[in-house]
Amino acid sequence: MRAVRISLGPRAVGELRGDRDASRFHFRPDYLDAPDRAVLGQWFEDRLTSRIRRFRRHFHPWFDNALPERGGALRARLTRASGLSEDDDFGLLMRLGENLPGNVYAHQVANTGPQSDSSAMGDEVIDEPDRVSRGLRVSLGGIQLKFALSGQPDRLTLPIVREDDSRWILKLPGRGFEDLVATEFGVMNWCRAAGFHVPETHVIPRDAFPDELGDLPEVSSGFLIERFDRSDVGRIHQEDFAQVLCVHPESKYKATDALGLGRFVLAILGSQGFEEYLRRLVAVVATGNADAHLKNWSLLYPDGVEPEWSPMYDQVSTVAFKGLETRLAMRIGNARYLRQVEMSHLCWLAEQVGLSRATAESAVDTTIIRLRDAFRPEAIGMPSRVAEVLRGYWKEVPLLRRHGLDAG
Ligand SMILES: Nc1ncnc2c1ncn2[C@@H]1O[C@H](COP(=O)(O)OP(=O)(O)OP(=O)(O)O)[C@@H](O)[C@H]1O
Ligand SMILES: [Mg+2]
Repeated sequence: MRAVRISLGPRAVGELRGDRDASRFHFRPDYLDAPDRAVLGQWFEDRLTSRIRRFRRHFHPWFDNALPERGGALRARLTRASGLSEDDDFGLLMRLGENLPGNVYAHQVANTGPQSDSSAMGDEVIDEPDRVSRGLRVSLGGIQLKFALSGQPDRLTLPIVREDDSRWILKLPGRGFEDLVATEFGVMNWCRAAGFHVPETHVIPRDAFPDELGDLPEVSSGFLIERFDRSDVGRIHQEDFAQVLCVHPESKYKATDALGLGRFVLAILGSQGFEEYLRRLVAVVATGNADAHLKNWSLLYPDGVEPEWSPMYDQVSTVAFKGLETRLAMRIGNARYLRQVEMSHLCWLAEQVGLSRATAESAVDTTIIRLRDAFRPEAIGMPSRVAEVLRGYWKEVPLLRRHGLDAG
């Protein structure tokens, strides 16, 4: 049985106990009683007073989503470097406890034996001298290899003592997907130019990577994005929608569909948040991104308590890459493929959650016009090959024939 203290910033909020077969999370009573209590996650907020569920056979899904994904390049590298087996979730959580997304920390504590309630918690933090080597102190989801870096885009360094000052994520493309870097850069710039909230982004040539990254795949550049969960004044909490639904990362495509996600969005972010959801869905379709699964939508907690949409991230024109899926990560009503999406699907979505068709139409139309006007490939740095593919693709998508996006 292992025990990990979970904190939000300096404040201990609870304890995760378990082993490879089961895990269970308890809140601390002093955290629950605090008037200015910061929020760990929406899933917990709905279950504060009920008995905390025990997850048999699997690691707790909420914390699982704070770790590098199984099957991804980062987890393979981290476990290899630290001698852990790839399925040792507790081991990884303890190793990466200072480097988790958002404002969460995990520290191993002395295990004082099996406990059935939250009244007695092991308080003694155990030092972990063998934390993972400097270059690899990062815990982020996703499949691509990535690093958390400090400094400035023209002078990137590895975080020094703790990872608090890591302000950037450097993502490296997989083999055979070299122009993914330029494509993600172009799509993010396009979305920013169309009025979406998008962090600062750069393409970083390989010779500007910090020296200490170790063995790297043969890539000529990486995609750099500013972290929205780190700031001058400290960490900002975040969670993705796989955490909101408390499903394992493996269920990011299948746990729900666009309507299921939309119901959570409306409940948590209200009708304004839902309108932004519609706008982002339009961007997903217009950019030809078939990979907008649950982990690519996140909440940010700027004041620690009230959630809002995080800035956009991981928007790539998957349609521009042969062999990648064109089926939507989450179907929208009966539209299962990008090329099937029509205005009626987005109106249906809005009506299902009680919003009017007119509201949906206006949000969708405005977004298509903004995306159309902002699509200037050279200005946004979109590779010409991808711009050509997109122009052809738009002609095939009913939703995008409105307002002449297909005229390119
Ligand atoms: N700018 C950012 N600030 C903070 N966290 C971020 C940022 N960009 C991405 N993340 C976090 O890192 C995770 C992985 O990033 P991203 O989705 O870009 O990687 P990926 O490997 O392309 O993912 P996928 O497997 O979905 O293709 C995201 O799920 C998100 O939690
Ligand atoms: Mg992702």
